[in-house]
Amino acid sequence: MHPHLFSAITLSLMIIAITLIHCPTSLRAEDEQYLNCSAPLNCSGFTDLGYPFWGLNRPESCGHPSFQLDCSNDAPRINISNINYKVLEVNKTFQTLRVARTDYWETICPSVLVNTTIDFTLFSYTTSDTNLTLYYQCPLPAVPITTLISTSVLQFNCTINNTYFFNYYSPNIYSPDLSSISNSIGACNYWVNVPIQLPTAMALIPTTQYAVTAAIDGGFMLTWNARNPQCETCVGAGGLCGSDPSTNAFACHCQNGTFVSGCARPLSSSSKHEILLSFVLISFLV
Ligand SMILES: *[C@@H]1O[C@H](CO)[C@@H](O)[C@H](O)[C@H]1NC(C)=O
Ligand SMILES: *[C@@H]1O[C@H](CO)[C@@H](O)[C@H](O)[C@H]1NC(C)=O
Ligand SMILES: *[C@@H]1O[C@H](CO)[C@@H](O)[C@H](O)[C@H]1NC(C)=O
Ligand SMILES: *[C@@H]1O[C@H](CO)[C@@H](O)[C@H](O)[C@H]1NC(C)=O
Ligand SMILES: *[C@@H]1O[C@H](CO)[C@@H](O)[C@H](O)[C@H]1NC(C)=O
Ligand SMILES: *[C@@H]1O[C@H](CO)[C@@H](O)[C@H](O)[C@H]1NC(C)=O
Ligand SMILES: *[C@@H]1O[C@H](CO)[C@@H](O)[C@H](O)[C@H]1NC(C)=O
Ligand SMILES: *[C@@H]1O[C@H](CO)[C@@H](O)[C@H](O)[C@H]1NC(C)=O
Ligand SMILES: *[C@@H]1O[C@H](CO)[C@@H](O)[C@H](O)[C@H]1NC(C)=O
Repeated sequence: MHPHLFSAITLSLMIIAITLIHCPTSLRAEDEQYLNCSAPLNCSGFTDLGYPFWGLNRPESCGHPSFQLDCSNDAPRINISNINYKVLEVNKTFQTLRVARTDYWETICPSVLVNTTIDFTLFSYTTSDTNLTLYYQCPLPAVPITTLISTSVLQFNCTINNTYFFNYYSPNIYSPDLSSISNSIGACNYWVNVPIQLPTAMALIPTTQYAVTAAIDGGFMLTWNARNPQCETCVGAGGLCGSDPSTNAFACHCQNGTFVSGCARPLSSSSKHEILLSFVLISFLV
């Protein structure tokens, strides 16, 4: 055989060997994240949910750490600042969620009274939201209520922890501060803000306790801010947005690996191992 032909064949075979050894391992190892994250989440009646959501079949690395959905109930549940919400609506185009507090579901007398607090780094209220303020354990008025308060404040009763609570509520569009109306009403032991939707709030006064519960169960709108410039870059490069659960940092899952930004800057040591492996094989050849 001609020596030149022999070396050419050897070289070709070796190149093929490198390709076979190197590429399948890197693709198998890295593609798994990408493949896992290409599968959208179907959760309690909601289909096709992608980043920032994760839960069930979608590992945490495919979402944002704060957007875990619990899919074991009739509606998805999400925790925001330690408060659990039912997800009633997801609008992917406008990046909005309509949520209702689980502790206030079908009641305005939950056993633990806490304000609605939102993580403003991740979420914003929309212009369709307003606060409903619930005042609990207020003093019984000495004179009839109607002479004390305006029509924008209504009274309701609860039994919480076996204690009788005399309470008031007011949508903030009518009466932002009950304490300014009357000292006797203002001296309540607790007051709690629960957001409701503005159109519902407009129709709330004068109304019944049942209507107030229904208004709260209608939920309120949140815009999520988790889609960030890093995610835009990632999607632009053909990747899928996600996170690194060990650091909570953003991660971009691409077909050829996981990266900190786009599909070019390596994130994990596994990509370094591949580069190292290539160098070893190339030096072996030379
Ligand atoms: C991909 O999903 C499978 C099945 O849920 C899981 O076993 C595997 O650990 C996931 N891989 C990665 C890299 O998250
Ligand atoms: C999610 O729902 C869609 C539409 O109903 C369906 O095509 C898809 O197979 C479901 N995926 C999973 C993982 O159940
Ligand atoms: C939400 O928080 C509650 C405790 O307040 C916890 O039991 C539950 O597992 C959390 N759910 C999720 C999806 O993190
Ligand atoms: C998302 O919200 C917009 C504006 O409110 C609305 O026009 C659109 O129909 C909504 N999309 C879905 C899927 O609900
Ligand atoms: C009712 O009891 C629970 C458990 O002891 C407590 O956490 C909660 O604050 C109480 N609620 C009120 C309104 O006092
Ligand atoms: C809710 O927030 C208001 C104002 O920040 C505060 O005065 C009130 O005590 C809070 N209510 C509870 C139950 O923590
Ligand atoms: C409700 O009131 C709280 C302050 O008590 C405020 O931080 C929040 O933005 C208000 N929510 C809405 C929807 O206006
Ligand atoms: C709540 O209890 C007070 C005192 O017993 C009563 O006067 C009032 O009518 C009750 N309010 C409602 C809405 O039932
Ligand atoms: C990964 O693939 C993309 C194209 O899909 C390419 O732009 C990028 O340079 C590749 N990254 C590495 C480290 O090879």
